[in-house]
Amino acid sequence: MTLLPKVELHLHLEGAAPPAFIRDLAGQKHMDIGGIFDERGGYAFRDFRQFLKVYETATSTLTRPEDYHRLVLAVLAESAASGVIYSESFLSPDFCGGRDVSAWREYLHAIREAADLAEKRDGIILRGIVTAIRHFGPQKARETALCAAETAGEWIVGFGLAGDEKSGKPKDFQWSFDAAREAGLRLTVHAGEWDGPDSVRNAIKDLGAERIGHGVRAIEDTALVDEIAEKDVVLEVCPGSNIALGIYPDWRRHPICALRERGVKVTVSTDDPPFFRTTMAREYHHLAAAFGWDSDAFIDIAKTSADAAFCDTATRDNIKRKLESSDA
Ligand code: ADE
Ligand code: ZN
Repeated sequence: MTLLPKVELHLHLEGAAPPAFIRDLAGQKHMDIGGIFDERGGYAFRDFRQFLKVYETATSTLTRPEDYHRLVLAVLAESAASGVIYSESFLSPDFCGGRDVSAWREYLHAIREAADLAEKRDGIILRGIVTAIRHFGPQKARETALCAAETAGEWIVGFGLAGDEKSGKPKDFQWSFDAAREAGLRLTVHAGEWDGPDSVRNAIKDLGAERIGHGVRAIEDTALVDEIAEKDVVLEVCPGSNIALGIYPDWRRHPICALRERGVKVTVSTDDPPFFRTTMAREYHHLAAAFGWDSDAFIDIAKTSADAAFCDTATRDNIKRKLESSDA
């Protein structure tokens, strides 16, 4: 299959940092982050909780706006090489200045400057979703939501919730989601990845999530699958991530195809690509092999993703024109 144009809606910026990039930063700063790499130099973790710990340790090396500038250039080069033309990335003020609004603005400035360079270099467009970390608790999420509200606009387009899905309940984060919504931000919540269908149901009901990060475990509840399809809630599915973390044993047993056949709007993303040894091109390759999806199916998914993107209309029209011209 030639390199199809792709739209990625679920990518954690820190989670997209290659291990060599993090090792190099740690070396420059004389930081000891031993134990997070395997003997081949990749990230090492056994389960979800350990993955989150390794992720946070790796992220602790990103201490300055210029580190994020370099990171964005590296990440977008990799995404563009996979055919991604538009990407929405989760950004966390927790890691960018400790939720202090003026420090957050400095990080954001560096991130946007790098994104502009990458757009000129590779044509790839980046937009940001400010993301609270669930296991840091509702109070920190409020501070994060304030950072989000202060910087909401045509570049920061959404607000999200990531982290340990089993920590607390969606309702605990209602204040933050209300504040983000009032600031004009669109909403997405990680759910139905580590926890079951109720987690997805509550993210929609209590937080007004329009998109669900993962959401794949909705498949365990027929009524919920119908509700998601009916309400046009979009799933940001990251199959390679789910398989690497052991939620499903292999590609053929991943529910993305079944969800799509039931009328759910599914999209495809990588989540934290170097952690899961994946890229968007690899996701497409495995999906084609497991489910026989052809280029028409992938273009259809990319159009669903463009429609579900949180960007403004002019940006969406621009992406859709590119998808349509590859469709001929
Ligand atoms: N943060 C980064 N990757 C994540 C994932 N897959 N689930 C929850 N939080 C995350
Ligand atoms: Zn995620």
